[in-house]
Amino acid sequence: MVKLGKTDIQVSEIIQGTWVMGKDYWGGAEDKESIEAIQSALEHGIRTFDTAYIYGKGHAEELLGAALHGVRDTCTVITKLWKTDMAKERVQQGLEEAMRRLQTDYIDVFFIHYPSETVPIEETMTELMRLKGEGKIGAIGVSNFSLRQMEEAMQFGDIDVIQPCYSLLWRFIDRDILPFVIRNKIAVIPYSPLGQGILTGSMKPGHTFREGDSRQNTPLFAPENFERALAVTERVKEVARKYDKTPAQTAVRWVMQCEGMTAPIVGARKRSQVEDNAGAIGWELAKEDREYLDAYSREFAYSLPMYKTLFDKTIEKE
Ligand SMILES: NC(=O)c1ccc[n+]([C@@H]2O[C@H](COP(=O)([O-])OP(=O)(O)OC[C@H]3O[C@@H](n4cnc5c(N)ncnc54)[C@H](OP(=O)(O)O)[C@@H]3O)[C@@H](O)[C@H]2O)c1
Repeated sequence: MVKLGKTDIQVSEIIQGTWVMGKDYWGGAEDKESIEAIQSALEHGIRTFDTAYIYGKGHAEELLGAALHGVRDTCTVITKLWKTDMAKERVQQGLEEAMRRLQTDYIDVFFIHYPSETVPIEETMTELMRLKGEGKIGAIGVSNFSLRQMEEAMQFGDIDVIQPCYSLLWRFIDRDILPFVIRNKIAVIPYSPLGQGILTGSMKPGHTFREGDSRQNTPLFAPENFERALAVTERVKEVARKYDKTPAQTAVRWVMQCEGMTAPIVGARKRSQVEDNAGAIGWELAKEDREYLDAYSREFAYSLPMYKTLFDKTIEKE
């Protein structure tokens, strides 16, 4: 377990993600496999789970709540407030609905999932601070915020933790956010450390997705990036062999050892993937191997145009 920034909250060294378990976006998922994946995480000592309302409009939260029945108090549960619930009069209800779905009366870490284009951040932050004061929330986080948006939010309350995208393939926070959170001792729990599967070595050039899998429309899987991203995976495989580890374990381990990272959130759709990913715990990449991967990672990640998000090919102005 590791401490979440300046809070007293403990999270496991790897956090289990649940997006795919929501059944939308990723071309479906089997509830039975999702529940087995959560059980496997618990068996491997992974007792921190990340979910959100938007993962299947409550489905992932409900599934996680049911799977953690009887053990919830031994776990750290992270969920998120969606954009539709950010207005002053909606925040408490958004939290209470999440608690009902998760079968709990407190949320360890509650995130604002995305900045709102319409609701002033003061409203959301003020309400979250009140709910934190009442003990319904343990810590407040923001996800997908720019540095400017974070600084604005911090005028109205605490940001204990951020949830950005970070992997060997995606490093936009290196520019300004990462130095800022390191300076301010804000915890970082990055998402998509496997590059949504690219870094596991399970994908080849010309990879075809099942119907409804939206990854095929995202920047990393675009033809101009995908094969270059797979070239980074080749380097990951090379380092993995040296340690007798798998590419997924090596890619996650690399993120775990980056300065400022508290614990990565790793997604999985089935037990075997959780078992594999759990093998990122309990060993270390030597400095020379971290630096070797870092060099290839920078070459790829720093060449990407400033995409809006991992899921949106819109390019933002520099
Ligand atoms: N705050 C946010 O905006 C935000 C955004 C994204 C994610 N998240 C959170 O972060 C979590 C992790 O991110 P992510 O799920 O997007 O990406 P990820 O962890 O990089 O990749 C997960 C996917 O990779 C494949 N995979 C996982 N382990 C594998 C293994 N050992 N071998 C082969 N394939 C494997 C699975 O997909 P296939 O089997 O289908 O290939 C799995 O769904 C999410 O579940 C969610 O909780 C948050």
